[in-house]
Amino acid sequence: MFNEFQLKMLNKEASSAKNKPSNIIEHLHLKKGMVVGDIGSGGGYFACEFSRKVGVEGHVYAVDLNRKSLEYIARNLEKKEIRNVKTVLAQPQEVELPEQFDLFFLRNVFHHLTEPEEYFKSLKRFLKDDGRIAIIDYEKRKFSFTGLFGHYTPLTVLLDIMERAGFYPFKQHDFLQDQLFVIFAKKGD
Ligand SMILES: C[S@@+](CC[C@H](N)C(=O)[O-])C[C@H]1O[C@@H](n2cnc3c(N)ncnc32)[C@H](O)[C@@H]1O
Repeated sequence: MFNEFQLKMLNKEASSAKNKPSNIIEHLHLKKGMVVGDIGSGGGYFACEFSRKVGVEGHVYAVDLNRKSLEYIARNLEKKEIRNVKTVLAQPQEVELPEQFDLFFLRNVFHHLTEPEEYFKSLKRFLKDDGRIAIIDYEKRKFSFTGLFGHYTPLTVLLDIMERAGFYPFKQHDFLQDQLFVIFAKKGD
């Protein structure tokens, strides 16, 4: 569970130029009116950025299992007068959502999921047929914090789990240092 200071730090890290947030957002091809879920939204940096891209006619859902995170995001939304982002308290294994989504975005969250295959099978119910799931996570690095503490997902593991959950890699980007960035689409039945 993150406290307010840690949530601020998450936003600082997410918005840092070295982590290329603008490039990430550009490659999501967000459009006005889209419905986007920021799963594991942390401090809410990306949810707030997405809100501008989808405009007043779009919806962004900041989804997290940490109530403190959602309260922190809600306070920031209020301050910034952002009206098109809703917060959703999730359970570790599944999430209930009120509409169909164009995009789910998970940055540095995949390695936290205890049953990722089941999780994405469940999430699929809320993804439009032409919807996408964008996943960013650390790849293994031997002597880094993320490598030593298991905060990473090898690409082969990600592709295998997502394949079993019913998705194929639609696009893979390699402009992030130390992190994988793969956009998945639904496999046909
Ligand atoms: C390392 S933080 C990343 C936050 C944010 N995505 C970012 O890039 O700054 C991981 C976040 O995922 C959340 N989380 C972990 N497991 C989750 C789950 N099963 N469903 C929703 N959120 C989850 C945590 O509470 C935490 O806020």
